[in-house]
Amino acid sequence: MPTVLIERDAHIAILTLNRPDKLNSLDEPLLHELHSAIVTVDEDPAVRVAILTGAGDRAFAAGADIAAMSEMTAPQAKRFAELGHHVGAHIEEGRVPFIAAVNGFALGGGCELALACDFVYASEKAKMGQPEVTLGILPGFGGTQRLARRVGAARAREVCMTGSMVGAQEALRIGLVNAVVPHEELMTRVREVAAKIATRAPLAIAALRRVILRGQDVPLPSANELEATAFASLFGTDDQREGMRAFLAKKEPTFHGR
Ligand code: COA
Repeated sequence: MPTVLIERDAHIAILTLNRPDKLNSLDEPLLHELHSAIVTVDEDPAVRVAILTGAGDRAFAAGADIAAMSEMTAPQAKRFAELGHHVGAHIEEGRVPFIAAVNGFALGGGCELALACDFVYASEKAKMGQPEVTLGILPGFGGTQRLARRVGAARAREVCMTGSMVGAQEALRIGLVNAVVPHEELMTRVREVAAKIATRAPLAIAALRRVILRGQDVPLPSANELEATAFASLFGTDDQREGMRAFLAKKEPTFHGR
């Protein structure tokens, strides 16, 4: 049985972490499968948006596999962290936006995977957090960096230093998730927002997520320069002509990503 399932529905791809008996905890084979799945989705021109979620009713992912980590030497741990970073970078830097549908525990590496996604919708049963300090380690799949960028350094320090779980409403309050929805409605609601994004101009979506990502690492004037360059690059595309023509004709645009 694959540990990552891929499903496609029109322009939406759904990737499901699939080790429910281990609360979808992340071991090396799963991370390799997830990486392949992300590449597959990114290379499929029919896909315009992806959803990442967890199999079963209890977990998105309850972290990196502690049984596997308990046997690791320091060099093996370094390679494991780099694999986690590699997966996160592919989510973040690819063409296709990712929405995390957090359907339960998203702890440690699970929370870090959600943070690599463009934004997160959570079930009211979600419990997120970075409990690594309870195991004598620290977040190794980008959590120390992406959590601070998403919720601010002080809140990230508190989440990481206490190792406590953050409930869905608290996650909403601190900006870790964009929305909290009833558990049974999670996938419906995430599919709705994904379907809306799928109707928007694909080249513009790809360019804007690249600019937002790159812009966080540079001073504002340089970030604005990145924006201006990306803005200009869309002029002359079929999508730009279609979007503006449709607006002026008072019609709905149909974009082809060209
Ligand atoms: N790594 C490996 N196995 C894990 C795991 C992880 N991160 N999280 C859960 N599992 C396994 C459990 O060992 C258990 O396996 P078993 O049935 O073979 O014993 C199974 O998943 C179910 O988990 P269990 O702990 O029995 O469920 P619970 O409802 O009592 O507790 C959690 C749920 C999430 C609170 C608990 O599993 C937990 O604390 N997990 C680790 C979270 C963590 O520290 N993650 C960060 C890792 S860096």
